[in-house]
Amino acid sequence: MSQEPLFDIPGEPARDLDTVRKIAIECRKCRLSEMRQNVVFGEGNPHAGLFVIGEAPGADEDAQGRPFVGRSGQLLDKILLAVGFDRKEVYIGNIIKCRPPENRNPLADEIECCMPWLEEQLDIVAPKMLLLLGRVAANTILGISLSLAAMRGRVIRWKGFDCVVTYHPAALLRNPNWKRPCWEDVQMMRAHYDKVCPK
Ligand code: URA
Repeated sequence: MSQEPLFDIPGEPARDLDTVRKIAIECRKCRLSEMRQNVVFGEGNPHAGLFVIGEAPGADEDAQGRPFVGRSGQLLDKILLAVGFDRKEVYIGNIIKCRPPENRNPLADEIECCMPWLEEQLDIVAPKMLLLLGRVAANTILGISLSLAAMRGRVIRWKGFDCVVTYHPAALLRNPNWKRPCWEDVQMMRAHYDKVCPK
């Protein structure tokens, strides 16, 4: 007879995504919870080999409770599709789950409050690769303070995940000259993905 374990099993994810989501949407750990319409938990394939990480929800995401559904999201979908990923195949989340006012950068204490959700998502999904969108997401995840130029163009190994850093789609909307280097990054990411997640 199968039974729920009474204790977490070391090395096993303690919970599933739906359970974590139910708890996360009630979160009141930081000031952003007072201003949000919705917690943008994240979505996608719970067994994805690729986990895409952005910075923070914008107005459209806050209104719908889903990540990357505005203009940046439409561009992200195109970028992923260009290298053969449907957005449903990957998992998409953000460093912080509630929209900062005026879309300002997340503050250090907001990131600190919110990171445990993302850590738990990474633990449960257990992807092989992370695609880190923009300097804030990359510096936060990698725990460094470098320019995007210094991080992109290669695979960075972090805590067992193979990470590729590229431009945030919002930056590409502001500066289309960055589309080519982004294209190079995601092609390199796809080639590496095919090696670490062979069909
Ligand atoms: N920008 C992000 O970083 N994340 C979203 O979900 C939307 C826009």
